Amino acid sequence: MTRHFLRDDDITPAEQAEILDLAVSLKADRWSQQPLEGPQTVAVIFDKSSTRTRVSFAVGIADLGGSPLIISTANSQLGGKETPADTARVLERQVAAIVWRTYAQAGLEEMAAGTRVPVVNALSDDFHPCQLLADLLTIKEHKGELAGLTLSFFGDGQSNMAHSYALAGAMAGMHVRVASPVDYAPREDIVADADRIAAATGGSITLMTDVNEAAAGADIIVTDTWVSMGKEEEKLARLRDLGAYKVTQELMSLADGEAIFIHCLPADRGYEVDADVIDGPQSVIWDEAENRLHAQKALLVWLLAKQGEAA
Ligand code: CP
Ligand code: NVA
Repeated sequence: MTRHFLRDDDITPAEQAEILDLAVSLKADRWSQQPLEGPQTVAVIFDKSSTRTRVSFAVGIADLGGSPLIISTANSQLGGKETPADTARVLERQVAAIVWRTYAQAGLEEMAAGTRVPVVNALSDDFHPCQLLADLLTIKEHKGELAGLTLSFFGDGQSNMAHSYALAGAMAGMHVRVASPVDYAPREDIVADADRIAAATGGSITLMTDVNEAAAGADIIVTDTWVSMGKEEEKLARLRDLGAYKVTQELMSLADGEAIFIHCLPADRGYEVDADVIDGPQSVIWDEAENRLHAQKALLVWLLAKQGEAA
């Protein structure tokens, strides 16, 4: 049965835990699974820039015995010249899975609806679910059990990262706080989905404007760029509006004494986070960046296994 991973809640909380456990075992024994032996090819398509996602998918697909085909939309027919649905029909006869970094979530949905191979969201304007698998793996490594932990996000609550923390954090039974100006609060429908999930897992999602309140006693402090890809024209307004949401050492001191700092990267030091925090002892950003590899390999192994199961 074909399963896609377009948003964090395209899997159940139990499936999220299963994928994270698989990631732990793949990290311990890197070449233990070879589902792409052949080699089979996985298409990895980019409409936006990338370092971590490009490298971790390319290396991960090779680790799994496969061959990555990295495609830039700038020099392919996708992106104005050919629809996602038609692209999917072409690719599915030759590749085992399609990974796509794009703008609109609707494009991913069209791609997935048009194909019988798994489609993975490698970041859209709305969500970054692969990053969340890596982040949860990192938190698990540093904190143990995810359920019951408090994760506080600061900054652009409408960013793909904030939305993914709301959904994936709620799925993991975490208490997610999103601190942002009211005009940058997360999308209402996504908060409603996170609320529904949290009611079943024992987690919660709380929107806040007061940074001190949001940081108080938190186990994980997190932020993201104030100017996501595609928002460059709003840069000046965003620097002005989000200035009070910077993660500083002073803010970190309000969190739990053992709190960790995470950031999906790339970071703008001095804007969303001060250098002494992101480069300081509580920061686990390099583990987080490495964990993209292990988490995405686990996701691919899991999706390919589902593909082999009867509907
Ligand atoms: N965090 C992340 O997705 O990084 P890249 O944009 O470099 O892929
Ligand atoms: N919110 C950021 C994440 C980058 C990995 C962006 O979309 O640009």
